[in-house]
Amino acid sequence: MKKLALITGSKGGIGSAISSKLVADGFRVIATYYTGNYECALEWFTEKGFTEEEVRLFELDVTNAPECAERLSQLLEDEGTIDVVVNNAGITKDVQFKKMSLEAWRDVIDTNLNSLFNVTQPLFASMCEKGGGRIVNISSVNGLKGQFGQTNYSAAKAGMIGFSKALAAEGARSGVTVNVVAPGYTGTPMVEQMKPEVLDSIKAQIPMKRLATPEEIAESVSFLASDAAAYITGETLSVNGGLYMH
Ligand code: CAA
Repeated sequence: MKKLALITGSKGGIGSAISSKLVADGFRVIATYYTGNYECALEWFTEKGFTEEEVRLFELDVTNAPECAERLSQLLEDEGTIDVVVNNAGITKDVQFKKMSLEAWRDVIDTNLNSLFNVTQPLFASMCEKGGGRIVNISSVNGLKGQFGQTNYSAAKAGMIGFSKALAAEGARSGVTVNVVAPGYTGTPMVEQMKPEVLDSIKAQIPMKRLATPEEIAESVSFLASDAAAYITGETLSVNGGLYMH
């Protein structure tokens, strides 16, 4: 029987690379996609050449707590168990704080941080009862160092780290590890939508002078999801080309 890994935001830049890597590692992936986006998700599934044994597409609005509770409980009934949860879904709404709307604040906190409650809470107890599991939360270098124009995003990404340490303490005795991968600037649509001059000035600050590839981020997730990482919990693994060393 293949182990099951649920990945939120699985067809995004980093999520897609994580999905491919975990499939290659031998997991069956439950790939969540945003409500109403089935056509896009199916296109992604087909382009990647996945089979239904490898990937199950799963509609989920990670900001909707009641929906997550209901659909994830049903998923547990269908599949029996979830071995790995990767909380990867995330958005940006970058703007200086003095101009930030309540909507831009709330949307980013809902999608990037409240989603951790919505998605993890319905699955965590069963992982503990089973006596093992892996939770990997995708934060950001900007949750560690802060970033001009990202008070909402930096707050959410820093919050993910506190959440992970606290949950790691609760899961440890049951063998459920909770860790964070904190990517730096990565070659994804999210980063590519930045103004070229702003991105150039950020690249100039990266000691390695280049963006990460999504595959480099996926390697760290794969490691933390593997048996090799059984004794690592509450940790944050930075993959940022030296942009921020802490
Ligand atoms: N530090 C200090 N001042 C800065 C600054 C910085 N890093 N960046 C811009 N400014 C200043 C400018 O010098 C300018 O000042 P003056 O008005 O005195 O000339 C002013 O801010 C410009 O402000 P505006 O609000 O008018 O600028 P804007 O609307 O054109 O852009 C912004 C604002 C969208 C926030 C833009 O600054 C930006 O894109 N910043 C980078 C945000 C970022 O890094 N996002 C990452 C997205 S990818 C991601 O998040 C993935 C991940 O995890 C890494």
